[in-house]
Amino acid sequence: MFDPRKEPEMQQNGETDRPERIIDGGGLWQGRLLKFTRLESTNRWALSHLDFCRHGDVVWAQYQTAGRGRFDRPWLSPGGRGLTLSFVFTESDKKFFQAMGQTAALAVRDTLENFSINAQLKWPNDVLIKGNKIAGILSEVDFNRHAVVLGVGLNVNFDRRDIESGRINSPATSMRIEKNRPVDIGEVRQCLVQKMEKNCDLTVEKGTSIIVDAWRQSDWLMGSRIRITNPNFTIEGRYAGLDHDGQLRLVDDQEKENRFLAGDVTRLEICSSPSQETDG
Ligand code: BTN
Repeated sequence: MFDPRKEPEMQQNGETDRPERIIDGGGLWQGRLLKFTRLESTNRWALSHLDFCRHGDVVWAQYQTAGRGRFDRPWLSPGGRGLTLSFVFTESDKKFFQAMGQTAALAVRDTLENFSINAQLKWPNDVLIKGNKIAGILSEVDFNRHAVVLGVGLNVNFDRRDIESGRINSPATSMRIEKNRPVDIGEVRQCLVQKMEKNCDLTVEKGTSIIVDAWRQSDWLMGSRIRITNPNFTIEGRYAGLDHDGQLRLVDDQEKENRFLAGDVTRLEICSSPSQETDG
């Protein structure tokens, strides 16, 4: 196992394989902040260095050369203008795995609130401003090691040209666009780590229902007819909120309730007043 403190130098091709800076206590619960200038993907690095990572470490790269989104889509963060980091959990309880992505989405929502930006949440863990995506979360699990890596991509200082370049999955927005001024990425990162730590502590203390309750307050899909697709099927129906584990509940046209662990959701139309149906 390498020791980045002893070997801080960059590799010849300019791609680094080691954190350039390790900030003790910059992660969750005094975990470390492992800072890179450039990585392929913070999630990929964390997953392939689980021996090195500790519970609560945060892997942060200024630039990602091959950032990944859900369903293997690319995740672009042009010119280092986005926040791209991964939270590493090496001692997680399996019962929290499903809700952890939602915990991160809530931490992003709370961070945006600190900057006076009002965000909504779209299952499984997208963060939107008036329907435009501002952040996404990629949750990846190594079941053998009981480890979870939660990658967060937050559009901080993207400008209109970035969004309109056609390279970013649209519709999208950024903190800069919403605030009409550039935002300090370091401040956003620090705030996000604090919010994430707080939300994780709350989940462990009170259970995942606390996440589901908080989610309900900002649920963009509430009261909608939706379509959910994954590689194996497509189904439409009425969105009925999250169950206590964070699974999506959909009531189909035969009034049968279905629950989903994963999938891509499209909001088709608003069909009722937004209220959560009972999770029976
Ligand atoms: C999505 O909405 O599709 C999820 C996007 C997740 C992007 C982040 S950026 C940091 C981390 N590293 C990656 O390669 N992906 C995640």
